[in-house]
Amino acid sequence: MVTGGAGFIGLHLVKRLLSLGVDVIVFDVLENSARQRMLESIAKDDLSGKLTVVRGDILAGEKQLSKALASAEAIVHLAALVDVSASMEVPEEVDRVNALGTLLVLKACVDAGTKRFVYASSCAVYGEAQYLPIDEEHPLNPLSPYGVSKLVGERYCQIFQDLYEVETVVLRLFNVYGPGQGVGGYANVISSFVERMVRDEPVVIYGDGLQTRDFVYVDDVVEALIRVLSSDRAIGEVLNVGSGIRTTIKDLAKAIGKLLGKEEVDALHAPPRLGEIRHSQANIEKAFRLIGYKPAYTLEKGLSPTVSWLVNRLKGLSRG
Ligand SMILES: NC(=O)c1ccc[n+]([C@@H]2O[C@H](COP(=O)([O-])OP(=O)(O)OC[C@H]3O[C@@H](n4cnc5c(N)ncnc54)[C@H](O)[C@@H]3O)[C@@H](O)[C@H]2O)c1
Repeated sequence: MVTGGAGFIGLHLVKRLLSLGVDVIVFDVLENSARQRMLESIAKDDLSGKLTVVRGDILAGEKQLSKALASAEAIVHLAALVDVSASMEVPEEVDRVNALGTLLVLKACVDAGTKRFVYASSCAVYGEAQYLPIDEEHPLNPLSPYGVSKLVGERYCQIFQDLYEVETVVLRLFNVYGPGQGVGGYANVISSFVERMVRDEPVVIYGDGLQTRDFVYVDDVVEALIRVLSSDRAIGEVLNVGSGIRTTIKDLAKAIGKLLGKEEVDALHAPPRLGEIRHSQANIEKAFRLIGYKPAYTLEKGLSPTVSWLVNRLKGLSRG
C-alpha cells in the first residue's frame, strides 16, 4: 500500500511498482484533481487490474486503514502535508496529518499484521547544517513545524519497531524534483524559475543565491524506495536519500536557463527568507552501503524532463 499514492512521489512510485508486476493499493484523500486524473490514467493502463485505489483520510480512524491494509505485505507511507510555509501558518494541521497521521498508520499496520513500514521523512529534520555533507548522525534541529512533525513520525517508527516488531525503514529525502512536481513545496524554486523565464521575466532569488540545496531526481528516490522494500538490510535504519551534490541557487538558475535557450539569466534579488537554511547536501554513503543506492541522474539529466514537463503544463494553463 502507498499512502499519499496520488501525490508527486507517490504517482512515480505506483507506476514503477505496477511495471514490476506488484499489486498496489493507493490510499489517498484525492483532493488534487490534476493528480487524480493522472492516477485514473495509470489505472486505465493497468490492464491486469493490479491497482486498487482507496479514497480515504489517514486521520479518519484505523478501521478504514486496517481494512485497506488487510492484504498488504508492506506500506510506503508518503501521505503528508508538505508545504513548509503552510506549516508556519497552520502548524496544528500539519502536526495532525504528519505526526498523528503516521502514528495511526503504524497502529493500523500492527492491527493488520503488515510486516514492513517505509516512512518518507525529510532533510528538514536536520535544520541548519553544522557540517557538510550531512550524514545520518548529524544533530536534529528542525527549524519549522513541518520538520518537527516529520521527526515525530520518525520517532514513532522507532517505537513501533521496538515494541511491536514492525519492520520500519526511515528515508530522509532531500529536495525531490521531477515531472509532476508540485508548484509549492520543496522544488518550488525550479517551478518558479521556469515560469518566470518562460514569461521573459527576471527570476527572483532570495538572498545572494549562493545558498545550496541537494536536488534529487524523483526516479532515484523511487529506486531507493523499491530497494528498501525488497531488501532486509535497511530494517530499523535511517537512510539519507539525496543526490550527494550541493547546487547553488544561482547555478540552478543557469542550468534551467540553458535548457530554455537563455545565455544570460536576469535575476532580481529579494531579502533572504526567514527560517531558510544556508546549505544542504546529503551524505549518501550509508544508503550505498546498505542498499546499493547510487543516483543515476545528474542535475542536467533530471532537469531536462522536468523543465519540459513544466513548460507543457504552463502552455496547458495558458490555453485554459
Ligand atoms: N517532495 C519532496 O521534495 C520531499 C522531500 C522530503 C520528504 N518528502 C516526503 O515525501 C512524502 C511525499 O511527498 P510529495 O512531494 O509526493 O507530496 P505530495 O503533496 O505531492 O503528496 C502527498 C499526498 O498525500 C495525500 N494526503 C495528504 N493528507 C492526507 C491524509 N490525511 N490522508 C490521506 N492522504 C493524504 C495528498 O492527497 C497527496 O496526494 C511526504 O511525506 C513528504 O513529507 C518529500
